[in-house]
Amino acid sequence: MGFNMRYLDLKRKIRDVRMWAIQGITEAGSGHPGASFSAAEIMGTLYFSKMRHDPSNPDWSERDYFIDSKAHSAPGFYSTLAVAGYFQPQELRTLRQFGSRLQGHPVRYSQHQKHHSVPGTEYSGGSEGIGLSVGIGIALANKMDGRKNRVFVLIGDGESNEGQIWEASMAAGKFKLDNLVTILDRNRIQQDGFTEDIMPLDPIKDKWAAFNWQVFEVDGHRVEQIVDALNKAAQVHDKPVMIIANTIKGNGIRHMANNPQWHGKAPPKRQTEVLLEELESECLIAPSIIAGERENYEDKIRKVEREGVDMIHLDVMDGQFVPNTTFFADTIKKLRRLTSLPFDTHLMIENPVKKIQDYIDARCDIITVHAETCTEDEFKEIQEKLIDKGISPGIAINPGTDVPKWLYDCLHNLDVVIVMSVNPGYAGQKFMPEVLTKMVMLNKQLREHGFRGYIEADGGIDATTLQQAYDAGARIFVAGAAVYGGGDIHGAVIHLRHKAAVALERRLLNHATQLNIRADWMKARKHILIPYANELRIEEELHAIK
Ligand code: DX5
Ligand code: ZN
Repeated sequence: MGFNMRYLDLKRKIRDVRMWAIQGITEAGSGHPGASFSAAEIMGTLYFSKMRHDPSNPDWSERDYFIDSKAHSAPGFYSTLAVAGYFQPQELRTLRQFGSRLQGHPVRYSQHQKHHSVPGTEYSGGSEGIGLSVGIGIALANKMDGRKNRVFVLIGDGESNEGQIWEASMAAGKFKLDNLVTILDRNRIQQDGFTEDIMPLDPIKDKWAAFNWQVFEVDGHRVEQIVDALNKAAQVHDKPVMIIANTIKGNGIRHMANNPQWHGKAPPKRQTEVLLEELESECLIAPSIIAGERENYEDKIRKVEREGVDMIHLDVMDGQFVPNTTFFADTIKKLRRLTSLPFDTHLMIENPVKKIQDYIDARCDIITVHAETCTEDEFKEIQEKLIDKGISPGIAINPGTDVPKWLYDCLHNLDVVIVMSVNPGYAGQKFMPEVLTKMVMLNKQLREHGFRGYIEADGGIDATTLQQAYDAGARIFVAGAAVYGGGDIHGAVIHLRHKAAVALERRLLNHATQLNIRADWMKARKHILIPYANELRIEEELHAIK
């Protein structure tokens, strides 16, 4: 998908950005979680996957420039710089403190300002509406000097009330600044209310197009769509580019999401651990397209894409390693043209080391081979090749198999471990509960040895078994028959997401109870918990909370 980096590694880094930002904000007791979180995928995709920059050489003359014009998203911006390698993330805990380099709004870095700024900061933000003009100045100067550096500007939709934004947009159109990409964090909230109530912006797409900009629109929390739009932007000539990123303010913490009160307010420090657990618990749903009616893969992909699933699970079976044959790289190549959804490719084939290049060329985003089909050297060769091509490497183990000892050497750059909960070969088989103990043990042991990837549950996952696998540590859920087997794909995906949410809420409630902040947490979380009160058996307790 042209990520220039591994899909799951990108997801993990963006997760880390949110986690460092929330630690800074709760430690400071102030800051802007809403905007830091709505722009997390935008800033993360730029710094971790698309922009030309060098944290070890912040003034590199060939670098691309990033201007965070909605500067109140500073905790998110600082965390992105830190996770990218400009400074130690732990420094986020000094956010807004007297003498810290990380103040409420960023200061452009220079030797003169080095005591209250961090390397990589190109712009001193604060009053909104100005950053786009600065970006245009840099882009115009680069063009006049014949330099290839690109300029990326992040603006907000509240900020778009500023007249200066529209003056600037006219200038960029006039100067045909095709080295300028502006991204609108369209989270539809400003300060204490909703943009369309305060100063309606729509039709925002038409506005920018009318000012001679090339406009793209994406889901601002889908990295694959942001990458796609940035790739298209790089092909645009004689026009500046606007990417309208539809986002959710506070995305990542369910009771903060789309809630104006979390624009500039910090959650209490005592809740930090529970918030971090939530941020670490994002679930990904991956339908397996071999389930249900035979083939018709294109239609199956389109249907689940409409339902907002996270990725597509592709089961490649060679009729040797498993007693069934499905499809191979040539089919995947055709399907690749259909969607930007990440392809989670599960190779159930003998000798994968001999065939891995075909799946690399088919542009899979995650490629998982079975531990039973390769030696230590073969797996290391495969892993190296995949990492080199920006593809997430994974390993799968059958119900009767334990992870090979040599895998502990490969954990650092391993993005996924599939713990099979059926014997591979067919969709629609019954979940084997006996694998749950192994999943719990593996999740613990692998993380103790440095694994920071995802545990994936594959085989017999449905609304019931998903919760069991969730509690055992899985965060990626393959679902074949549960999605395609019943004729109601829409209902099936919603049901799986609902069950994942129940499992998450139960876990967070248990954590809050351990920390002795149960009532406090339930109060903050009340409107989120109400739909699950019955399943969580907390109706009375919730009702008593005022
Ligand atoms: C089995 C495959 C699974 C299977 C999932 O060998 O690896 O991905 O297709 O289908 P369900 O969810 O129906 O078990
Ligand atoms: Zn599979």
